[in-house]
Amino acid sequence: MQKLVIYGGKPLSGEISISGAKNAALPALCASLLTNDTLTLRNVPDLKDVTTMLNLLKQMGVTILTNDQSEMELSAADLTNPTAPYEMVKTMRAAILVLGPLLAHKGEAIISLPGGCAIGLRPVDQHIKGLQAMGAEIIIEHGYIHAKAKKLIGTRIVMDIVTVTGTENLMMAACLASGLTILENAAREPEIIDLAQCLIKMGAKIEGAGTDVITIQGVKALHGCTHDVMPDRIETGTFLTAVTASGGEIHLKGAQAGTLDAVIDKLLEAGAIINSGKNWIHLTMNLPPKSVSLRTAPYPAFPTDMQAQFMALNSVANGTAIITETIFENRFMHVQELKRMNAEITVEGNTAIVHGIPRLDGAGVMATDLRASASLVIAGLIAQGETIIDRIYHLDRGYERIEQKLAQLGAQIARIN
Ligand code: EPU
Repeated sequence: MQKLVIYGGKPLSGEISISGAKNAALPALCASLLTNDTLTLRNVPDLKDVTTMLNLLKQMGVTILTNDQSEMELSAADLTNPTAPYEMVKTMRAAILVLGPLLAHKGEAIISLPGGCAIGLRPVDQHIKGLQAMGAEIIIEHGYIHAKAKKLIGTRIVMDIVTVTGTENLMMAACLASGLTILENAAREPEIIDLAQCLIKMGAKIEGAGTDVITIQGVKALHGCTHDVMPDRIETGTFLTAVTASGGEIHLKGAQAGTLDAVIDKLLEAGAIINSGKNWIHLTMNLPPKSVSLRTAPYPAFPTDMQAQFMALNSVANGTAIITETIFENRFMHVQELKRMNAEITVEGNTAIVHGIPRLDGAGVMATDLRASASLVIAGLIAQGETIIDRIYHLDRGYERIEQKLAQLGAQIARIN
């Protein structure tokens, strides 16, 4: 199993490019299931989760042509097997995103139930409830969702909870339903706008993406298009947080500041100086960071996917921070690992109290999920001495070439077997 070795305690400085967003690329890849034409996606990041999704689509019969590292052409014209087996869904919950498109275009889908995962229970009841409201017949047996529909019918769906992939699944399904679908209490994440833009280029009639009410007028068929996946706002936030914690300076090319206002506000509060333009962000940090309290919530509030990274930042900040996680019930597993590096953190329910200390000590730690891994990398970068992070396959699911990018900033970091 591969590990990362980091010698920390040095400021970081330099320029890097931000990759395409994992959580925008995954639904866009599934949008290829909505048409028999070819969908061309550009700026697709080279990540483990993307490979898993491509393998899932391939075993269904989707043909995939990779033009260069980040551009691919997908065609579902010869799809024969509308099934997502347990072996694939259990490694990547986003596989549930094939359900809506398969049902809408092929009239059938057999998808393994995802089950629980490291950060929480994560049920998919809202995806199922929405599709049933559109007329799908859904039976759950032997751990699989068996869904059928001759033709989905547009309707008004009020989601009980704000769900990102739930909104994406229903939005994709509604594109080929008959009549009007109104999704209320929809998620507003930028990745939903990115997916809607791709679907609109494919001929879909969607209004309101980015607000909590999305209306979709169904069309008979969608066609191919070329779509550029948006830059990854969580990768962007992770690098900005790393440099706010370590001190130094970073220039991010291809980053969109407008997609992470809540994160930038908190970094400014911590003492960072930030400038940005249409496609870049520049951050300078000359002083030790100040503690920043935060509460995660659906977009546009502070993202749960940045909570762990801010835990690492706060562990070396001046003062005490209170961090409340409201999205996932078990997303504090990095705390035990940060404590092995001497961080002073107490957890009470869904709240962590972090007393900043002058420095962390390098130690052997274990990654438990994707963003927890990112927080341990940041901790390793600011700790004195050597940190060895085990189980970094979690990191490879969502960060493209992270150790190379950090090395570009002057970090002493290496991958070992
Ligand atoms: N939920 C339900 N029922 C549902 C769906 C969700 O109760 O049918 C609950 C979940 O258990 C959770 C909350 O609703 O408590 C929000 O979950 P959501 O469905 O929004 O999460 P998701 O769509 O499964 C996406 C991202 C996650 C990110 C969350 C929250 C993708 C592929 N994944 O997951 O990304 O944390 O939204 O913003 O878009 C990551 O990148 O590390 C990651 C976990």
